[in-house]
Amino acid sequence: MTAIWAHRGACAYAPENTLPALQVALEMGADGIEVDVQRSADGHLVLIHDETINRTSNGVGRVEHLTMEELRRCDFTNGFAGRRNVKIPTLHEALELLRPTGATLNIELKNNVVLYPGLENDVLRVVTEMGMAERVIYSSFNHFSLANLRGSVGPEHLALLLSDGLYDPWKYANWFGAGWINPDHFALQQPNYVWLAHEAGVKIATWTVNKDEEAVHLAGLGVDALITDFPDRVGEAVRHPGY
Ligand code: G3P
Ligand code: MG
Repeated sequence: MTAIWAHRGACAYAPENTLPALQVALEMGADGIEVDVQRSADGHLVLIHDETINRTSNGVGRVEHLTMEELRRCDFTNGFAGRRNVKIPTLHEALELLRPTGATLNIELKNNVVLYPGLENDVLRVVTEMGMAERVIYSSFNHFSLANLRGSVGPEHLALLLSDGLYDPWKYANWFGAGWINPDHFALQQPNYVWLAHEAGVKIATWTVNKDEEAVHLAGLGVDALITDFPDRVGEAVRHPGY
């Protein structure tokens, strides 16, 4: 069965990468949640996609240059009517929210523009302290960063993010020691992509799938997880194709 993972939380319905977005995703029955993690100037792990806070908050500046206190002063409501004073969450707060649930957590290490040395091990430490190691899948476009986790977590917890048409990426994944590839959904137009990956023992979580027909098609091919902004509608389409 294809799992539905909410992209940045259910980011079509609540400010991305915030606790309300995670809460809405859970209420919508998402099987998993994808979030992006970066690090503040004073070493706090926070959920945010961009390298700056300019787009998603009422503040300005680079995450790596702002302290947690400076980040917390900002409002990350980001235009969502009816929501006020939404704070940037720490990874710890997100894990606290998810711990009582059965949801999978896909933590994307957002360290492909700003490198954040040691980010992967900082994240691993918090996840392990919270007792959630078995529920987390780490992904990154920075495969050097993911490689640093290979001695600490198994292949089933490592996902190589792919944005281009890398040829036979399941072979690379096997060589690397990752159990997942997370390609842009356009890559899956290549014939037999899903079948070949599965033959090689590699799972696929693809992003960002927001159209019902495409979701049904990809689920029919056996894609392991769909990362979507609309976990309710896309989940419904996958569970009840044809309705
Ligand atoms: O992890 C899947 C997807 O989130 C990767 O792209 O830019 O939305 O983080 P982006
Ligand atoms: Mg992401």
